[in-house]
Amino acid sequence: MTKVDVVLGLQWGDEGKGKVVDVLTPNYKAIARFQGGPNAGHSLKFGGEEFVLHTVPSGIFRENSINIIGNGVVIDPVILMDEIHKIEAKDGDISKKLLIAKRAQLILPSHRMLDAASEAAKGASKIGSTLKGIGPAYMDKTGRNGLRVGDILAENFKEKYNALKEKHVGMLSLYPDFTYDNSEYEQKWFAAVEELKRFSFIENEVLVNQYINDDVAILAEGAQGSLLDIDFGTYPFVTSSNTMAAGVCTGLGIAPSKVGKVFGIFKAYCTRVGSGPFPTELFDDMGEYLRQAGHEFGATTGRPRRCGWLDMVALKYAVMMNGVTDLIMMKSDILNDLDTIKVAVGYKQDGKVIDWFPYDGAENIEPVYQEFKGWKSDICGIRDYESLPQEFKDYVAFIEKETGVNVRIISVGPDREATIVR
Ligand code: IMO
Ligand code: MG
Repeated sequence: MTKVDVVLGLQWGDEGKGKVVDVLTPNYKAIARFQGGPNAGHSLKFGGEEFVLHTVPSGIFRENSINIIGNGVVIDPVILMDEIHKIEAKDGDISKKLLIAKRAQLILPSHRMLDAASEAAKGASKIGSTLKGIGPAYMDKTGRNGLRVGDILAENFKEKYNALKEKHVGMLSLYPDFTYDNSEYEQKWFAAVEELKRFSFIENEVLVNQYINDDVAILAEGAQGSLLDIDFGTYPFVTSSNTMAAGVCTGLGIAPSKVGKVFGIFKAYCTRVGSGPFPTELFDDMGEYLRQAGHEFGATTGRPRRCGWLDMVALKYAVMMNGVTDLIMMKSDILNDLDTIKVAVGYKQDGKVIDWFPYDGAENIEPVYQEFKGWKSDICGIRDYESLPQEFKDYVAFIEKETGVNVRIISVGPDREATIVR
């Protein structure tokens, strides 16, 4: 009997989950996505090439891996097939190594339209959604109207589709200013649905529990980040799924007692794309420096990411909520040239300093910073922890002391190889 290990983001997404999963996969037979959908953009870099995955688990490029899109995921067949075509152009047929949950929900073209209409109507208070139809698809799931992957095989699939689409058309008429024509996308959607049939649609909960019993190592790959969690993130500026470790149970069909290690990934600083509270955000030259040095532009939408210092209050909250057992620090190298590095260790709210993450997502607070001396050297070529500069080790030691969790992996560059494992 084995347990399911989990990799997930501890901030607002884009922590580097793709790279970490790719680095960890040699230890696992199966990689499974358990929530989210094409709003995710997981980048992998190896052999001089870069790939961005949105729905397909990041284990797909490893030989003999099994990649599962779990029941908790929402799938846009157009985006998924497009991704599959790109992977197959490089690696050949992947229909034996990619399995899709029958219970996963489908994102309809009209879900995308609803997402766009809703965001447009919100104006300045918009969420900053990736506009992939994530929110509306999850609304139909919990509203018990959704279409699932298994439905594709039903004889009356087209009827079911039309019924849901009609409902959406009615809802869209509530937005008189919003005009759309998605007939072209709809055509592509049906073509993609047809092609998807060459993949196996499975009861993933049965397979995953069988793997657990047979000692087959499984890694669950989170999307988005803990602070975008529908329950515990900076609501309403969140995504529509449980991005935290708890989501693995419902998104793959395993019991809480079957969750093993929880690898929590964070950047050595912070970023956020889209709207919502971000206590340590920098609006000055330093923010711009981090954006340029860290290439902080969205992998899914190309939008510039908001940048700021590491937020220890938020990080401790995420470590607690996920039961993180191992920390993974990404993009450390981006801080190479800085004289001083700051970390928020508390929030000042109404004259008082608090050290927890408040219900309103830390709106109207002022961070209290602790300063660290920068290491001022290029660490990109370093592969063993002992060779890192003392200032770097001090930064890591501080994070470990504050969170009570060891930093096991440190990334010093985007490539698969640029990784220090302790
Ligand atoms: P990965 O997996 C960063 C953000 C959006 C928006 C909010 C809601 O690459 O880390 P949605 O499309 O879900 O309705 O958007 O969540 N968001 C992400 N930010 N990384 C992601 O995924 C994200 N997925 C969604 O920018 O603020
Ligand atoms: Mg991303």
